[in-house]
Amino acid sequence: MPAQTSPSSTDEPVTATTPIAAMQSGTDLARTVSRAHLFHLSGDAVAGRAAQHLISVPDGAVAVDAAGVIVYSGPYDQLPQEYSEYRVLDHRGGFILPGFVDAHMHYPQTFLCNAYGGGQLLEWLERCIFPGESRYSDPEYAAVAAETFCRNRIAVGTTAAMVFGSAFPVAQDALFEASVRHGLRIVSGRGIQTVGPSSADALITDEDTAIELAADEVLRWHGGDLTDVALVPRFSLSVTRRTLTALGELYESVRGQGVYFHSHLSENDRPVTGEVAAVRAAYEVADYLDTYDGRFLPGSDKGGHSLLGPRSILAHAVHCTDRELARMAETGTSIAHCPTSQLFLGSGTMPWRRTVAHGVTIALGSDVGAGDEWSIARVASDSYKVHMSEPGADAIALDPAELLLSATLAGARALDRADTFGNLEVGRHADLLVVEPARLESLGRSLEWAVRADDEQMATAQTLFALLLGLRPEAIAGVYVRGVCVSERA
Ligand code: GUN
Ligand code: ZN
Repeated sequence: MPAQTSPSSTDEPVTATTPIAAMQSGTDLARTVSRAHLFHLSGDAVAGRAAQHLISVPDGAVAVDAAGVIVYSGPYDQLPQEYSEYRVLDHRGGFILPGFVDAHMHYPQTFLCNAYGGGQLLEWLERCIFPGESRYSDPEYAAVAAETFCRNRIAVGTTAAMVFGSAFPVAQDALFEASVRHGLRIVSGRGIQTVGPSSADALITDEDTAIELAADEVLRWHGGDLTDVALVPRFSLSVTRRTLTALGELYESVRGQGVYFHSHLSENDRPVTGEVAAVRAAYEVADYLDTYDGRFLPGSDKGGHSLLGPRSILAHAVHCTDRELARMAETGTSIAHCPTSQLFLGSGTMPWRRTVAHGVTIALGSDVGAGDEWSIARVASDSYKVHMSEPGADAIALDPAELLLSATLAGARALDRADTFGNLEVGRHADLLVVEPARLESLGRSLEWAVRADDEQMATAQTLFALLLGLRPEAIAGVYVRGVCVSERA
């Protein structure tokens, strides 16, 4: 059981050596006050200036009402009297973070994080991914994968996600059902392919079927309590102008209901045979993004409705032109930045400074299975490394607040839900993680015995950095969505 105290308790703080595992309640947060070090970003935080918006409250409290909504967030000693009746969950020595948002992960690649294809994107897809994803036609296999997918999400604290779905409706039903059962937020849509190599045969349908199945998925799963649907063409190379025309029409008819759009953009730029070159050649467009912007006719002429907008997320955007970045910013389209996957497939790195300068929302994506890490904290660690390693003057040591922003609030923004979750402000749903460093000696000791700068702001950044980079599932004591403990159900 947790240490439960009244708000006026003067109990000794939990130290990194206290066996907190034995104290963790796992109970829901209705009418509770959780006491710990709070780290989150204020709602107006923007990339490039995140440090100015970092909220760090060393002896903090988050009060959650019966509906799972945060009603107080701030210093424990300023907790309003009206919450004095609430049960106190004493996590001192620990931290409370907003739940992580994974803006791009592949459910049909749940068991493909270690697939060797001996090549970059297109070879890997053809040799490993298309055959592997074809197995989801088996409902039993898909159900096992859906369960594992949800458990893996919970283990790493991913409370909300944009999930690239399976081609098979039966597998998508298994995914949505498992997500609801586990109480996780999910946006997903079946992966649409209407053309491709023979290894993708099982995943390919004709255009009419693709549209019918997508429309049916919207009807059945969009606007659920925790579920929403996206239209998800795999990428421009797996569809045709005719598919994009029909998808544009469908999107136009459901955009008003808040349906999402999700795909890949400019990931692999190998000359001639790579993805970007192949898209330009197939569509005869100036820029890859044009194909999603209704401009998929030769010369980037308009041929249909745009699929871009505030509920559109494009994964990677590694090799974009300034024109593409400006257009994404203009339409409110977000980028799912996937550095772990980009390392795996040799895709290069999204240019941090240039992308931020255009004002595009940058969320993080694991891109499981090209990304071989489920944890958005591990992806943030890779983000730090790849941007530190950008050439010349492009190199940047990302402030830890930037890492936390891209792992949480920016993901909520990419999902157009920052009014509901993504930080710990009053009025947000209690989607949060309780981290107990003492559960993991490497993390507990590194925080307890850390060398810290004299400058308070730097010392705070150092603590957040150590927490994010040292975080592993063992240290996550509780994962909550809308105040419900989803880790207890896992
Ligand atoms: N582009 C098209 N399909 C995929 C995929 O499954 N993974 C990645 N990383 N890129 C893609
Ligand atoms: Zn992907």
